[in-house]
Amino acid sequence: MKKNFRNNCFTKRSFLLVCFIAFFSFTTFYAKAGDSISIIPKPLTVQVENGHFVLNNFAGITANTSNEDVKQTIEWFTSQIATSTGYHLSTKKSSNGISLILNKKADTSLHDEGYTLKVTPSNVIINANKPAGLFYALQTVLQLLPPQIASVSEVKNVSWIMPCVEIKDVPRFGWRGLMLDVSRHFFTKQEVEEYIDQMARYKYNTLHLHLADDQGWRIEIKSLPELTKVGAWRVKRTGRWGTFLPALAGEPTPDGGFYTQKDMKEIIKYAQDRFISILPEIDVPAHSLALIASYPNLSCTQLPYSVNAGGKGYERNDNVLCIGNDSTFSMLDKIFTEIAALFPNPYIHIGGDEAYKGFWDQCPKCQKRMAEEHLKNVDELQSYFVKRVEKIVELKGKKLIGWDEILEGGLAPNATVMSWRGMSGGISAAKMGHHVVMTPWDYCYLDLYQGEPEGEPPTYGLCRLSDSYNYEPVPDSVDEKYILGGQGNLWTESVPTFRHAEYMTWPRAIALSEVYWSAKSNKNWSDFVSRLEQQFPRLDAANIKYSRSMYNPIFEPARIKNSDFGVTLTSEVKGLDIYYTFDQTNPDRFSPKFDGKPIQFPVGATQLNVITYRDGKPIGEQINMPKDVLIKRLDQKRHVY
Ligand code: ACM
Ligand code: ZN
Repeated sequence: MKKNFRNNCFTKRSFLLVCFIAFFSFTTFYAKAGDSISIIPKPLTVQVENGHFVLNNFAGITANTSNEDVKQTIEWFTSQIATSTGYHLSTKKSSNGISLILNKKADTSLHDEGYTLKVTPSNVIINANKPAGLFYALQTVLQLLPPQIASVSEVKNVSWIMPCVEIKDVPRFGWRGLMLDVSRHFFTKQEVEEYIDQMARYKYNTLHLHLADDQGWRIEIKSLPELTKVGAWRVKRTGRWGTFLPALAGEPTPDGGFYTQKDMKEIIKYAQDRFISILPEIDVPAHSLALIASYPNLSCTQLPYSVNAGGKGYERNDNVLCIGNDSTFSMLDKIFTEIAALFPNPYIHIGGDEAYKGFWDQCPKCQKRMAEEHLKNVDELQSYFVKRVEKIVELKGKKLIGWDEILEGGLAPNATVMSWRGMSGGISAAKMGHHVVMTPWDYCYLDLYQGEPEGEPPTYGLCRLSDSYNYEPVPDSVDEKYILGGQGNLWTESVPTFRHAEYMTWPRAIALSEVYWSAKSNKNWSDFVSRLEQQFPRLDAANIKYSRSMYNPIFEPARIKNSDFGVTLTSEVKGLDIYYTFDQTNPDRFSPKFDGKPIQFPVGATQLNVITYRDGKPIGEQINMPKDVLIKRLDQKRHVY
């Protein structure tokens, strides 16, 4: 009896203990589920509720419409889910399902791309006015599921749960783009499609392909076969871009490639299925060496050239079309006829940047054109060119967009301006009532260094993750209605592989996705960093390369009165421990720790080695900084390399 009583008592107590533990883990779990909502770009409103939805093998996805785009979206989603979970979602009615509802009566506050998403323990309900909104809601659903959902192969033993939540989400801008330069380095159709998938995660809707430049012509134009027979190919060089030897006489040209129109149709369809539109760019009148190499009569000098392989030894400026030659315009008419027929995007990007105008000054044909058209200078000649090209493009039913140099000499009547040399071109264009896409280089150029150059593959300039994140595309002086949105631009001179294209793109383009999608009032750097850190396991699961330079040390040299100079060590991510050595050894957490006061080079020291730690573990890369590099930076406000 006693024994029994004691046992009984023990059982009751253990029962209570188990209940307590269960309750504790339950509440902790829900707190965690709430914490784990780290969607990027940040939705307009997020209301976390109690409970969770379990996605299991009996779950389904259904829609209230037979719309083809919605069908396609369901196919895309079920295939994503099958890849990582192994579950084959039913598209018939199911008790625990995802319901896609295309609003019969539009909710005007959601516009064309917004959505509402309600996750309850028994179902997930998504509403949108257009299929795009349903697609973006499902991208959000993927971000609510555990990171292994992004895996490229099936993952076992994961509980595929998502927290109950109510979300309303609408993008700030309608143009949310990335530009990929496929001329300087060619990326295959499959790589471009992978890039599209990566963009779609962050709700981008425009992929601008830079299809023609001095280093390669990348799109089949059936009426002008030389463009891809000659212009798509160059001699093979490897190493540091800009230092390569030009082609030797008779040297083979195996490097390059191009998309056939069939390839491009497939890319366009692949992108459309992810609500991304491909914007084609044919860069003229400059950056046209691949075109000139194929058809040498199109330049003022008519000299023969090879496609540039990324080197010196070329007449670099002689990459400009002759504006006095009517063949230039008949050639462009043929090109834009085929481009307009191929690409559904309402715009054609005609480049227009960085033209050296000296050849036009010397060219009898260009001079004759100027006289006939009463053009006062070569800026006006360039403007004549752009206006004439705008007429060609408009006759094909398209709108013209160009880099901000198209403002020089007078903007074409309906042109949209892509502002890259800062914001000022965009501001001028908007003040004239033209539409603008903002891509100022110092915030939006994904080819720039993203951390100290001593820790990065060689390139130029500087655009840190926080620069991209803190960028505001609408200047105070401008009416927001003229700013269509913005882009991140990846020029690929120093990007020879697709893995490196990923490294340069992510996470800066994740930051930019929030700039272009999220409400300005919802942006916050430290909140962004903590959400971004939740994205990294997703990128890992998807085998996407990305930069972790935000964890690396930053060196800020400054003169100290009556003395030499001191160095302040910081990092973009706050709260890291920073350790350093001057004796050329590798610092670790037992080395001197930076305490906020500028440090000075001891006599004889020539290098400062620094590493960052968090919670006792290294988190950034060690950077070895030569003293003379810091001295050079001393008088520069913002160092440009
Ligand atoms: C450009 O970066 N030249 C548009
Ligand atoms: Zn000329």
